[in-house]
Amino acid sequence: AHHYAIVPAAGSGSRFGAEMPKQYLSLAGCPLIHHTLAALCRCPAIERVWVVLSPGDRYWPQYDWSALGAKLETVYCGGETRAQSVANGLAAAETAVADDDWVLVHDAARPCVSAAMLDALCRELADDAVGGLLAAPVADTLKRAGEGQRVQATLSRDGLWQAQTPQMFRYGVLRRSLAAFPDVTDEAGAIEAAGYAPRLVRADASNLKVTFPADLALAEMILKSRRE
Ligand code: CTP
Ligand code: MG
Repeated sequence: AHHYAIVPAAGSGSRFGAEMPKQYLSLAGCPLIHHTLAALCRCPAIERVWVVLSPGDRYWPQYDWSALGAKLETVYCGGETRAQSVANGLAAAETAVADDDWVLVHDAARPCVSAAMLDALCRELADDAVGGLLAAPVADTLKRAGEGQRVQATLSRDGLWQAQTPQMFRYGVLRRSLAAFPDVTDEAGAIEAAGYAPRLVRADASNLKVTFPADLALAEMILKSRRE
């Protein structure tokens, strides 16, 4: 089976609160999303990478993406939600991808995904019937907040993992699951709702999602430490 990637990049970065969507903020010398796409384009197993942009995106054309090579495809079909953007991207890729090909869905806002993580995902799931996702065991103690932001309960973190991306599933199953269960926050959620059990492939906290300003500084440290 072939491997392809879909990168939802049509968000506005409202929690980050910058003047432009966070995927275009400068990170270690180039737009954040350049790092994300470079990691995917460098992965030998991945044959093509679809970037899903917002129909009104006026930032993408302002940069030079030629260093990323010939695997890259841009589609201006982002939707109202992340899941909708992914579903639209899958539809745009339809003529190039077969039902049982693997699709890696990866957040534009995760620029620190490493070659080793991508290798582990593809290798560990190569013979899997369902597919799965990168994830990291929860490290912090979890509290449920109640009235007045007071602790109502301490939850066990036993067996809890934080879902990351890429999430890798078969094209056909993923597309049908997202169509049937559009109110999910990740692909695995749709696959689970459709009755399958995705595999967790262990990664670590360095595959962070840039959500708030502090995450950008952390991402920069992680990328720079890998250059040494
Ligand atoms: N995304 C998308 N289409 C949307 C919403 C999000 O393609 N309608 C993408 C984002 O660009 C990001 C990824 O999905 O790469 C993960 O979403 P998130 O971190 O929530 O990014 P934003 O939605 O941009 O941020 P916020 O929720 O703070 O507004
Ligand atoms: Mg969002």
